[in-house]
Amino acid sequence: MTLGPATPAPAPAESPAVPLKRHVYIETMGCQMNVYDSDRMFDALTRHGYVQTENVELADLVLLNTCSIRDKVEHKMMSMLGSLRKLKAHNPDLVLGITGCVAQQEGERLLKRVPGLDLVLGPDQIGRLPELVAAIRAEQHRTSAIEFVHRRNYVFPEALPPQDGRVAAMVTVMKGCNKVCSFCIVPFTRGREVSKPSADVVAEVEMLVRHGVREVMLLGQNVNSYGKDRAGELDFAGLLRAVDAIDGLHRIRFMTSHPMDCTDALIDAFGDLKKLCPFFHLPIQSGSESVLTGMRRAHGVTDYLEHIDRLRARVPGIALSTDIIVGFPGETEEDFTRTIELLERVRYASIYSFIYSPRPGTRAADLTDDVPDEIKKERLARVQALQDRITADTLASFQGQVTEVLFEGPARVNQAAPNTRLGGVRLEGPPQMSGRNPQNLKVNVPTTDAAAFAEWPGRLGRVEIERVKAHSLLGKLIGWV
Ligand code: SAH
Ligand code: F3S
Repeated sequence: MTLGPATPAPAPAESPAVPLKRHVYIETMGCQMNVYDSDRMFDALTRHGYVQTENVELADLVLLNTCSIRDKVEHKMMSMLGSLRKLKAHNPDLVLGITGCVAQQEGERLLKRVPGLDLVLGPDQIGRLPELVAAIRAEQHRTSAIEFVHRRNYVFPEALPPQDGRVAAMVTVMKGCNKVCSFCIVPFTRGREVSKPSADVVAEVEMLVRHGVREVMLLGQNVNSYGKDRAGELDFAGLLRAVDAIDGLHRIRFMTSHPMDCTDALIDAFGDLKKLCPFFHLPIQSGSESVLTGMRRAHGVTDYLEHIDRLRARVPGIALSTDIIVGFPGETEEDFTRTIELLERVRYASIYSFIYSPRPGTRAADLTDDVPDEIKKERLARVQALQDRITADTLASFQGQVTEVLFEGPARVNQAAPNTRLGGVRLEGPPQMSGRNPQNLKVNVPTTDAAAFAEWPGRLGRVEIERVKAHSLLGKLIGWV
């Protein structure tokens, strides 16, 4: 979010007979679940006459959809609130809200701590957003709603058709997490696991396909326990099969899995289902057995590696990714070396790596955070340097290969004028179409065909890779699938 000098918003309409459209700005922080939730908040507000604005100064409702997984994101939120309060001083009609995991974690306390804040809304209460904002406007009071809805009564917010022509979309299939990883705040902020009925998941994907979507990412904190909370429901492998049967859909991905629930049925699904992409995010967190015990991960390194071996035997060439935490309490240099060895052994296509951040209320917060900051930073840098080399090797292995690409739209580099620098990328030659291959690598295809930008999105092309860049591949279209 960038905030320029505050300017007053347009005056509200005099007559309710011609209602003026209200504008909402949502700043999304954190994981894909939050991106999905922000879309559902837009949907709920759209039904009540709101339109989305990218300009925070034009908004009469500003929501920060927050993340509390690490303290860094919370700090970012507090600094944004400072700027927003100034905006509010110029526009008293502005309603300011905090949603997401920090809202859930802090509740009413946030209203006390943050002057000018009107609304604190937990993830389970998204459906009530329009009603609560209307009440705040009418009654000039501040409110917080962070109750968890009992899993038997929980209703997933309904998705409206996307308006932006997206080719790849997310679909939440479950919420919450029943695991007890000692470092993690998610079970406290997202509550117990609740699965979305499979009929609703299928209906949502079918709706998306009717509106041009060709790839779905099935989302949940721990998708492999899908269905366990609902008698007679499909398991996750069954859900994948039901989604795979939907005509017009080209690709399925999913996030995130817990190693403990990595079943044979799931591994078979990778082998059997044509639409399920050969890409699997399976967080391990650490390569040290004793750190994993402290993390209460309920799996070890040996059983994890067995899953990987079975997967690779069934789906040769499957791309893997993982999450790594460095500097967990008690992590010795030797423990850390085990993590380095694990990365060298598995050779993930990509990883997400984090410095341990103690979270209030979690079990690990009671342990002494004894790894000095400097060492944490140094370990993170070593993990990332090693992974950069492995990722570069992964990308290089595609040189000269033909890979299947689902085109999504113009590449970001097109936004740069020729021969100017944008985000470190120098645009040379014609504009580029962008998409991803099954292994989730970005592939760009330069083209002089002006019609390509209208006609390629949503289609699967066969692309011969001619150049390997730092984070993407460049190639030429040699045919359609
Ligand atoms: N199953 C979840 C995991 C959520 S958290 C999912 O949907 O992705 C994502 C990642 O953040 C975790 O796998 C872990 O690597 C990291 N993480 C969680 N809590 C953390 C903490 N307290 N400090 C540092 N990293 C953390
Ligand atoms: Fe967090 Fe562990 Fe669940 S990382 S989201 S408690 S599987």
